[in-house]
Amino acid sequence: MTHGKKILIVDYGSQYTQLIARRIREHNVYSEIVTCRHEFSEYDFGDVAGIILSGGPSSVHDKGAPKLDMNLIDIGLPVLGVCYGLHLIAKNLGGIVGKSKQREYGRAIMTVSDPDKLFKGLDARSQVWMSHGDHVEKLPLGFEKIGSTPNVEYTAFSDAGRNIYCVQFHPEVAHTEQGNRILKNFLFDICGCKADWSPMSFIDSAVNDIRETVGGGKVICALSGGVDSSVVAMLLNKAIGKQSVSVFIDNGLLRLNEARQVRDACGKFGLNLRAIDSSAFFLRRLKGVADPEMKRKKIGRAFIEVFSAEAKKIGKAKFLAQGTLYPDLIESVSFKGPSATIKTHHNVGGLPKRMRLKLIEPLKELFKDEVRAVGRTLGLPPEFIDRHPFPGPGLAVRILGAVTPERLRILREADHIFISELRNHNLYHETWQALAVLLPVRSVGVMGDERTYENVVALRAVTSLDAMTADWARLPDDFLAHVSNRIINEVKGINRAVYDISSKPPATIEWE
Ligand code: XMP
Repeated sequence: MTHGKKILIVDYGSQYTQLIARRIREHNVYSEIVTCRHEFSEYDFGDVAGIILSGGPSSVHDKGAPKLDMNLIDIGLPVLGVCYGLHLIAKNLGGIVGKSKQREYGRAIMTVSDPDKLFKGLDARSQVWMSHGDHVEKLPLGFEKIGSTPNVEYTAFSDAGRNIYCVQFHPEVAHTEQGNRILKNFLFDICGCKADWSPMSFIDSAVNDIRETVGGGKVICALSGGVDSSVVAMLLNKAIGKQSVSVFIDNGLLRLNEARQVRDACGKFGLNLRAIDSSAFFLRRLKGVADPEMKRKKIGRAFIEVFSAEAKKIGKAKFLAQGTLYPDLIESVSFKGPSATIKTHHNVGGLPKRMRLKLIEPLKELFKDEVRAVGRTLGLPPEFIDRHPFPGPGLAVRILGAVTPERLRILREADHIFISELRNHNLYHETWQALAVLLPVRSVGVMGDERTYENVVALRAVTSLDAMTADWARLPDDFLAHVSNRIINEVKGINRAVYDISSKPPATIEWE
């Protein structure tokens, strides 16, 4: 990948580390996150313009708290310490970090005492967002205060001679009103970065990379119809044309008309597509399976079987392309380590080893919104690009209890009404994800003068930023009434609709 100098973000476990990287990319500067456990004595700083030390959940006084690797300071590059990063710098360079009586979360007003360099162009008083327990009581030698709040005298300080800057608050969050200006000052004035990173420049270099890696070989791409794998398939097509084959497996667990839409779009873009209808096979495997994890495992295994068989028919392929994104990679190196498995996510992870294929992951340096920008430039239709996420195991994890063709029919129709009405009422993009769930209970109702004893559908719509946390969407009453009416009247087999008002945590977005 070709890009100019980058910003190195050292992650101490903050929930905002990815956000720092995104904000920097929004200024068209390439940034990379590295865990604080990295061995920096061996790091190649050749293309690094500056370093950001992230926040983190620890206190520098905790036993086992991550330490500052002094190579990061001694290398002499500009440094910005954020929250925990600030505490690390203060402690290691000779200052004193004290424990605050009370943790401080949220809004504070900072008075700027040095409107130069990092704070150039900032208002004299500016809202910042705090989240910390410790605070600095004495500055290290050579440092000067550049901003303070009523609670924290040394909210921001710097050693301009050494180009080291520290802020107690989080410049990367939207509530720090001039945070973007602060980051911009750091990137361009202090680190001398150039704005040379963009999704558009990405396409050219990704195409070149693919050509170089693949040579005359053949690539298989597992196409799900989601935005990530679609963008990968388009990039491959642009780079190597018919040397790539996109394999699309209809597992019978897709939404109404979805398989046809994927096939049509691929046809329109001239992709070398192999579409396989394996619905009957997957349904046989799922027969009588009600346990959510068992469903996921069976679907994962069935997928690998169908895919491997198909790959054999295609003939000697050396590479498997997949739509791994940057956050997927960072998760696996994050300071805290991989989080507990709540749900086994179904992906193509087991394939490359089994099939002895080399991986091609053209999107592995991008965030989701950057992938969308690339997709738009490549001409992917908006309905592919801005679609809500859809889980790999599809409707199987939205049918509680065993999956049958009849229950799939019921859920598909209900889901279709809900989603098309969201679009009709311009509410689709107001929600992060919306779905219908078919419950394993029946309830009594009355239709005409007849007693009914039918299924219950639950509607779920959430707002979220990254699916890690979510809140239920406050959809208008009238809208919900309209959708409920339509579903109960039009979908044979449903006589009751309920709206899910649980947040994540403690619930999850999907019901299984
Ligand atoms: P949960 O239900 O864990 O979901 O709050 C978070 C996000 O992940 C999606 N999801 C999956 N995606 N394979 C996937 O590719 C899966 O097995 C899977 N399970 C959940 C879910 O739709 C939501 O966007």
